[in-house]
Amino acid sequence: MGDTRSSTNGRRPGATLRAATVSRQFDGVHALEEVDFELARHEVVGLIGPNGAGKTTLVNVLTGFDFPTSGRVELDDEDITAWPAHRRARRGLSRTFQQGHLFPGLTVQENVEVTALGVGTGAVEARRRADELLSLLGLADQAFRPASLLPHGDARKLGVARALAMRPAFMLMDEPAAGLHEGEVAEFADVVRHVRDEQEAGVVLIDHNIGLILDVCDRIHVLDEGRTLAEGTPAEIRANEAVSVAYLGRRRGAGGSAT
Ligand SMILES: Nc1ncnc2c1ncn2[C@@H]1O[C@H](COP(=O)(O)OP(=O)(O)O)[C@@H](O)[C@H]1O
Ligand SMILES: [Mg+2]
Repeated sequence: MGDTRSSTNGRRPGATLRAATVSRQFDGVHALEEVDFELARHEVVGLIGPNGAGKTTLVNVLTGFDFPTSGRVELDDEDITAWPAHRRARRGLSRTFQQGHLFPGLTVQENVEVTALGVGTGAVEARRRADELLSLLGLADQAFRPASLLPHGDARKLGVARALAMRPAFMLMDEPAAGLHEGEVAEFADVVRHVRDEQEAGVVLIDHNIGLILDVCDRIHVLDEGRTLAEGTPAEIRANEAVSVAYLGRRRGAGGSAT
C-alpha cells in the first residue's frame, strides 16, 4: 500500500473509512451481517433502511461505540477495529447521537466550546470556533441559554455543532434532522453540503426523510435486516425495485396498493 501523504497539501492522507465484512450479533439478533461500507472524504453517503435495519449499529461500530462480532473497521487502510471511540475521535471521527449527549447544565456556547477544548483546541480558538459554528447552525441567538432549555430542533443542531467542533475528517450523523420543520430541513441540507465542501469531511447521514437523502447525498447505502440491500447514486436507488418494496413499502407502478 503506497503512502500518499505528500499529495494531500499538508493534510492527513486522504482518508477512507471502511467497514469490511462487518457482522454484529446481539444474542440471537443479527444487527449487521457481513456489511461492506465505505466513506471517502468529500462525499455524503446516506444510510437508510427501516427501523431495526442496523443503521445505528453500523455507526456505532465505525466510531468505536460498539465493536463487531466479526469483520474489520479500517481508517486509511489501518485496522482500527479494536480502537476505542476516543482514539478514533483524535483521528478525526466524529458523530452525533440519536438523542441526548449534550451537557444540559452548560450554555449552548459552552457545549460547543468544551468539545473543541476536549480535542486540544486552545481557549481563544475554541471560543471563536464555537461562535462560528453557532452562526453556521443558526443558533447564535441562543448562545447563552442553558442547553437544557433548547427546543428539540435546536438541540439537534447543537449536537451537530458539537460534532463539528472536533474538526472531523468524518462526520457520522444519526438522524440529525429528525423533528426539524420543513424550512429547517432545507437549511440543514445546506449545513451538510458545507461540511462536505468547506470542512472537507466525509459525511454519513442517517435519516428517514427520503427527500432530504435523495437531495443531499452523493451515494446511498440501504440496509435491511442487517444486510446491504442496495448501494448507488440517488438516481440508482430511486429506480431500485428491491428498495421500493422493502424500504418504501410499495412496488413501482403498483398505485400505492402495497402488498
Ligand atoms: N445494545 C443492543 N442490544 C441488543 N440488541 C440490539 C442492541 N442494539 C441494537 N440491537 C438490535 O439490533 C438491531 C438493529 O438495531 P439498530 O442498529 O438500532 O437499527 P436502526 O438504527 O436501523 O433502527 C435491532 O433489532 C435492535 O433491536
Ligand atoms: Mg437508529
